Amino acid sequence: MVFDTHAHMNDRAFDADRDALMASLPAQGVGLLMNAGCSLASTIECIALAEKYDFAYASAGSHPDAADEVCDAVLEEYKKLCKLHPKVRAIGEIGLDYHYEDIPRDLQKKAFIAQMELARELGLPVIVHEREAHQDGMEIVRQFPEVQGVFHCYSGSAEMAKQLVDLGWYIGFTGVLTFKNAKKAIETAQAIPLDRIVIETDCPYMSPEPYRGRRNDPSRVIFVADKLAEIRGISPEEARKATYENGKRLYRIY
Ligand code: NI
Repeated sequence: MVFDTHAHMNDRAFDADRDALMASLPAQGVGLLMNAGCSLASTIECIALAEKYDFAYASAGSHPDAADEVCDAVLEEYKKLCKLHPKVRAIGEIGLDYHYEDIPRDLQKKAFIAQMELARELGLPVIVHEREAHQDGMEIVRQFPEVQGVFHCYSGSAEMAKQLVDLGWYIGFTGVLTFKNAKKAIETAQAIPLDRIVIETDCPYMSPEPYRGRRNDPSRVIFVADKLAEIRGISPEEARKATYENGKRLYRIY
């Protein structure tokens, strides 16, 4: 069994076959699935999937691309949803993305901090999206020693990953790990303890080799597990089992 710890099965890319695909996942070896909210609207869609499928869970939060929606009313709505739905296991995905900068950095930081405060108040782990914002991301994380979670689709250095692990965080790897130019991700996957590594698809994006560039889905997280096994010199079964247990610990699924 594998745990896809970060997916977007609510995405429009799955509109034509979402239910058939979801229903097929347990037989394909996907034992657990976390659909990450990116906005209030997508959070509600992820919760609906969690209510419908036993193996699916949800997170609640606004992605840096949606930082401009974060206000008291939206935060209050997230709080209500977390209390009402026990399958909401994290606040996320939240964070900083300086790659496109459609949303000004100051606004992104404000939304990130407000949602870290919400996670602290609710006692929930967080799912962090951090792209090309390593320094500011670490600075904000260090302001919240009571809050931990995962840096998903990790793109920082091995050194920064070690610092995060020391602070109690998990590191999430996608299909990027299988790409030919994945030197940095491979270095990181070698450098940190196995019990801090989770795997994910981030589907419909980030399809692993040999499907790079095509629509991704949770069943392909197995390719990430296999690559991790190769990198760590362990068996594929061991890689699947360890990352499964790590995901359960991260999202407190017992
Ligand atoms: Ni995502």
